[in-house]
Amino acid sequence: MARGYFITFEGLDGSGKTTQLRRLAEWLRSRGHKVITLRQPGSTELGDRLRAVLLDSRSETALGPLNPMAEMALMFADRAQAIAEIIEPALAEGAIVLCDRFTDSTEAYQGGGRRLGSELVLQLHRAICNNLQPDLTILLLPSLTTSLARARRRNQRNVQKDGTDENRFEREPDEFYARIHNEYEAIAAREPERVLVLGEAESESSIDAVELRIRALVAERVPTLTHL
Ligand code: TYD
Repeated sequence: MARGYFITFEGLDGSGKTTQLRRLAEWLRSRGHKVITLRQPGSTELGDRLRAVLLDSRSETALGPLNPMAEMALMFADRAQAIAEIIEPALAEGAIVLCDRFTDSTEAYQGGGRRLGSELVLQLHRAICNNLQPDLTILLLPSLTTSLARARRRNQRNVQKDGTDENRFEREPDEFYARIHNEYEAIAAREPERVLVLGEAESESSIDAVELRIRALVAERVPTLTHL
């Protein structure tokens, strides 16, 4: 059985990547592919518990401030479990795996945002994740201003809806997001073969237009897809 294909989606909070991942999954399934989707943190039993600790701002009230190294270690614990339980078995079965965030997120958020540095993230990825690399990464990178406005709007809606912040990260100051944005740009510049960027102009067009662009990119990169 031929090994499957591993695609990750990356971007700042509010970049629209989750919607695009879902649409791509539907399209691929409609063309007869076996598709497995997951998100990080989360998607395994352990991951869902870690996600609650990592994202719900109420956990800071209960646990106290989360140390940046502890935060990064939990991101990797989540990832190791997801690779073992979901990603590797699916790839071995020949499935297309679509993952909402992967180690680029840790490099951007913990490496850049929390200033822990890229090298440490890459070392941990080698040690903990056997250096598993996506075959393709779609990076949605609208301007910083657009991303911030979308993320803040979304968080506001959630606070109004159920009185909770769904995401501690969305309360961080703008400089934190600026560092993440820079780090994503640096990753894309370093690995242009793997990371396809939908930059300011592209990712700010309509959801349908972005969807079509992503389909075209994926079809180009995975030649067997075009023949189905
Ligand atoms: P999520 O609600 O999935 O955000 P989004 O829909 O924008 O992807 O929350 C994931 C959050 O966790 C997001 O703010 C980024 C952060 N994160 C890290 O800081 N490091 C990581 O390694 C990962 C996977 C996520």
